[in-house]
Amino acid sequence: MSEDLRTPHAPVDPEVEPPVVLERPGAAPAPGSVTLIIPTFNEAGNIAELLGRLAAALPAHLPCEVLFVDDSTDDTPAVIERAAPRFAFPVAVLHRESPGGGLGGAVVEGIGRADTDWIVVMDADLQHPPHLVPELLGEGARTGADLVVASRYIAGGSRAGLAGGYRIAVSRGATWLAKGLFPRALRGISDPMSGFFAMRRQAVTGGSGTLKPLGYKILLELAVRCRPARVAEVPFVFQDRFSGESKSTAREGLRFLAHLAALRSATPLARMIGFGLIGLSGFVPNLAALWLLTHTGLNYLLAEVVANQAGVVWNFLLIESLLFRDRRRHRHWADRIGRFTVLANADLLLRIPLIAVFVGSWGLGVLAATALALVTTFVLRFAATEALVYLPRKAGRSDPG
Ligand code: GDD
Ligand code: MN
Repeated sequence: MSEDLRTPHAPVDPEVEPPVVLERPGAAPAPGSVTLIIPTFNEAGNIAELLGRLAAALPAHLPCEVLFVDDSTDDTPAVIERAAPRFAFPVAVLHRESPGGGLGGAVVEGIGRADTDWIVVMDADLQHPPHLVPELLGEGARTGADLVVASRYIAGGSRAGLAGGYRIAVSRGATWLAKGLFPRALRGISDPMSGFFAMRRQAVTGGSGTLKPLGYKILLELAVRCRPARVAEVPFVFQDRFSGESKSTAREGLRFLAHLAALRSATPLARMIGFGLIGLSGFVPNLAALWLLTHTGLNYLLAEVVANQAGVVWNFLLIESLLFRDRRRHRHWADRIGRFTVLANADLLLRIPLIAVFVGSWGLGVLAATALALVTTFVLRFAATEALVYLPRKAGRSDPG
């Protein structure tokens, strides 16, 4: 940190200096300017302390503004508005009426509003030490990195404030899973689960893919979809919450898995592999249903047909929630499962004549013909499922969501 980074933004007397507004249409962003994006969900008890510590930490000459993106059901927005005039930097709150995408959705909305060179994302509960903000920006300037992550997993960092062995294990497992699935995109990021980082705005907006955040892991979303060219890290000690409780639930864990699947299946090839793996897993409910039905005395052929539907429903549910999550809105669910079921059963019917052709006309052996027919109908079914169940029907016809 250079010498002149030390004079903090002192709180100002609202009588003397009027609050600055966030919107400055036409003004070019100052070099090194930063927007602090802070997602809030019922954090009223943390606002004053957080802003006070930020004011003490941020150098006076640093052009910065604070943007809270709020989905609260309590009086957090009013608390922010009351506190805002006490500070020398602009403090704004964007309250969302429909909190799409949870924490990650809030951060992306904040990014959309920002016009500064840098964006810093941090939590409101003081688990992310405000005094590290200048350090993150300093590291970015020094190394030329597009993304600077505050990490608990490098020398000097720790997860002191992560409550209990269970949460530590979950956090570690999630980190390994993410790094295993995205070895290249997450190279150089020891803590992809961190919610505390600085990123050049250009690196976000220059990313090829559109952002589709789902829940808590916004850094993962940005690292995988925007692929920042250079990454740096700064160690940090994850603190105890200052006030209130964590908003993270078991449901957030499921969302994380769905988020990983959505990120991993962004390309058609990856989607086809996922489709195949889900199809294979469908043998389990299929065989279980077959066992159950034949034991109740049902004729085995009839049982085959019924049991096949158990596999179809299993596949449908997994494909819906993991592969085509963001493409469900184009059709009603009853329409989707109807089409999906027809395709899955047509697959069975098509296989028989195909095998006959492969054996009769091409002279293949029965096993080779069956394997070839399986692969052929699989590829056909994948293509047909994409085209007939999950493709947008007409541009602009679907609801956003
Ligand atoms: N706008 C908005 N909408 N904000 C939210 C929402 C939401 O749906 N859910 C949570 N937040 C805000 C909280 O108010 C808080 O400021 C911040 O997001 C983090 O939420 P916590 O509930 O405190 O999360 P945590 O402490 O369990 O998890 C944090 O640490 C994890 C590392 O273990 C987060 O930073 C995670 O992203 C991080 O992975
Ligand atoms: Mn927290």
